[in-house]
Amino acid sequence: MTEQTIPGPIGPAARRGPLRAGDRVQLTDAKGRMHTIQLRQDGHFHTHRGGIDHADVIGLPDGSVVRTAEDHEYLVLRPLLSDYVMGMPRGAAIVYPKDAGQIVQMGDIFTGAVVVEAGVGSGALAMSLLTTVGTGGRLISIERRADFAEIARANVRAWFGADHPAWEVHVGDLADVLPTVADEAGVDRVVLDMLAPWENIDAVTWALAPGGVVLAYVATTTQLSRFVEDLRDSGSFTEPQAWESLVRTWHVEGLAVRPDHRMVGHTGFLVTARRLAPGTVPPQRTRRPAPGARASDESAVPPSGEAWTPEAVGERTSSERKVRRVARDLRARAAYDDATAGEDRNG
Ligand SMILES: C[S@@+](CC[C@H](N)C(=O)[O-])C[C@H]1O[C@@H](n2cnc3c(N)ncnc32)[C@H](O)[C@@H]1O
Repeated sequence: MTEQTIPGPIGPAARRGPLRAGDRVQLTDAKGRMHTIQLRQDGHFHTHRGGIDHADVIGLPDGSVVRTAEDHEYLVLRPLLSDYVMGMPRGAAIVYPKDAGQIVQMGDIFTGAVVVEAGVGSGALAMSLLTTVGTGGRLISIERRADFAEIARANVRAWFGADHPAWEVHVGDLADVLPTVADEAGVDRVVLDMLAPWENIDAVTWALAPGGVVLAYVATTTQLSRFVEDLRDSGSFTEPQAWESLVRTWHVEGLAVRPDHRMVGHTGFLVTARRLAPGTVPPQRTRRPAPGARASDESAVPPSGEAWTPEAVGERTSSERKVRRVARDLRARAAYDDATAGEDRNG
C-alpha cells in the first residue's frame, strides 16, 4: 500500500504496533478454536476455563499469548483482511479471497485508479479494491438493493475503522447509475459481480476509458458463455479471456505431507477484456460461436427457458429475515462503536 495521506484509523498505522483499545483481535486456543473480540478498556472475555481482561491484552505486541485465570492459553492476533472477510456478516454471497486476489491482479487494479464495482453485495470485494486504489483513488460501488448496501457500508466501515474517503456507494441499477457517476474522461476499470452482467455491456462500454479493463465474476458456465459472446458481439472490446482458479491447501505435518482432504471446489469464473478506442474495428474472428450461444438464437441459454434468478444459477443469498437481522445487528454494533470510540482510543 502506498503512503496514506489522511490520519486516523484508515492506513497502515491502524494495523501496526501494540494492540489498542478499539482493535478487533482473534483469540485462538490450542485446539484452533477462534473467537473474534473488540478490545475495550473495561472489557472481559469469558471462557469456561476462566476469563481474560481486555486491559491485560491492550498494549501487548500483535501475536502475543495470554492466559486465563485457569492457565488456558490464547494466541492473540489482529485478523488479516482474508480472515475478516470470511467471518463478517453477509447479505449476499461474497467474493472469496482467492478470487479477490485474481481480480486485483488480472483486472489490473492500481493505486489511484477510478474503479466501478457492481454489485457491492456484502462489501467483501470492495475492501480489496479500496486497499489497492488507496485514498488517492476512487471506488464507485453500485448496488441495487438498499439493504445489501447498508450491510456492505457497515462491514467496510468496521474494517477500516472509519468511512473510507475514496469510497462512494450508490443504490440503484448499474445501467441507471453509471451515466450519473462517470464522466467523459471515463473510468479505468469496471468490475461486475452480478447475475446478468451482459445486460450492462452498453453502459460499461460508454463508461470505460479506451484501454480500460472490464472484469466479470460469474458463477456458472451459462453466464460465462452469454457474457463472453455478448462482449464479442459488441465489437468494442478485445477478445475476452476466461479462467477459473482452484486453490488446494496442504496438510504438512512430519511425514504426512499431502493435499488437504477438503477444498473449495468451485467459486466462480472470471472474464476480462479491454475497451477498444471508439471507432476501432477489431480483427474479424474466424471461429464462430456454437448454435445456442447467442441471446438471439431460439435455443439460447438458459435452455430451459428459466429466468436468470439467483436460485436458477444456484447463488446462495440469505433469506429476507436474515438480511434484516444482519442489518439490525450491524446498526447496533456501529452505534456502540461510535459511542465508545472516543473513550477507547483515548483510554
Ligand atoms: C454476489 S453479490 C456481490 C458480492 C460482492 N462482490 C462481495 O464481495 O461482497 C451480487 C450483487 O449484485 C447486485 N446486483 C445484481 N444486479 C445488479 C445491477 N444490475 N445493478 C446493481 N447491482 C446489482 C445484487 O443485489 C447482489 O447484491
